Amino acid sequence: MKRSKISIIGAGNVGATAAHWAASKELGDVVLVDIPQIDGVPQGKALDLAEAAPVEGYDCRITGATTYEPTADSDVVIITAGLARKPGMSRDDLLLKNTEIVRSVTEQVVRVSPNAVLLVVSNPLDAMVYVTHKVSGFPAKRVVGMAGVLDTARYRSFIAAELNVSVEDIQALLMGGHGDDMVPLPRYTSVGGIPLPELMATEKIEAIVKRTRNGGAEIVNLLKTGSAYYAPAASAVQMAEAIIRDKKRVLPCAAYCDREYGVGGYFVGVPVKLGSGGVENILEVHLTAEEKKLFDASVNHVKDLIKTIRL
Ligand code: NAI
Ligand code: 2OP
Repeated sequence: MKRSKISIIGAGNVGATAAHWAASKELGDVVLVDIPQIDGVPQGKALDLAEAAPVEGYDCRITGATTYEPTADSDVVIITAGLARKPGMSRDDLLLKNTEIVRSVTEQVVRVSPNAVLLVVSNPLDAMVYVTHKVSGFPAKRVVGMAGVLDTARYRSFIAAELNVSVEDIQALLMGGHGDDMVPLPRYTSVGGIPLPELMATEKIEAIVKRTRNGGAEIVNLLKTGSAYYAPAASAVQMAEAIIRDKKRVLPCAAYCDREYGVGGYFVGVPVKLGSGGVENILEVHLTAEEKKLFDASVNHVKDLIKTIRL
């Protein structure tokens, strides 16, 4: 069987960590790409990871590059290129610079990998997936953004810690944009199948929701020099695995919604079925009037961001 190929653009914190998780899961051969100005860095990180393979026992080739030819015919391309947040910066502050970076990266990626699924991580996420889709000309189902898996992972980890139960038993859904106005849905959160509101007081749930909304900033404020990368990279690799292994996972992802949820042609976080075709289906769940109001406000924020970029 032919090995899959995963290219990761941006060999910084998220990119290199994603390469690590992808290799340790033996998802396929990994190519790590960064800009020519730091030639040597993606190659050095790739070589270091390849030298860990005999110890960890993963069989895959890991290479680094500052050109796109080595990425040719990738099955999945994870785009992490761009600036990251520093204390005092919002994700939206990254908009204009990262639009240029993501545009240029996408043009080069699609030239050599016309059949790949593009998995976007760069921020502001919902706008960068939109840029990737427009610039690539790919069908919308082959362009997807990572945010909901991360936000949900944060939320699940806080709930598990509070209840002192296994993280594996927390199932949850968050929707909307990857911003401070993401929409948590405690009704759709369960602990071993038991709805969360049965096990936790409303005020406690609200406090966890607040911490989740602020989850990115909490880590930025602790690190001071950049933003989170272990959980973001693990989240992107979980999505890549769903695609490469055609797992048909149901995960919250930034997917193109037109009539779905009445979004009207933007990428926002919704539950999707993720398999070899990319976003194979968008699952429409019932939202109460209050939840729909929060979702619409989050979508409007995404629309406002997109109005400010020229493509
Ligand atoms: P980082 O600064 O460690 O790495 C970014 C890398 O991108 C650098 O190595 C840089 O040289 C490279 N780069 C810049 N321009 C490039 C280009 N034109 N082509 C190829 N590579 C280029 O940043 P980090 O922490 O890895 O974050 C990367 C991005 O991911 C940021 O925009 C960050 O905000 C975003 N992010 C998104 C998350 C999400 O939930 N969607 C979670 C965490 C980070
Ligand atoms: C995060 O949520 C910065 O978007 C990034 O950690």
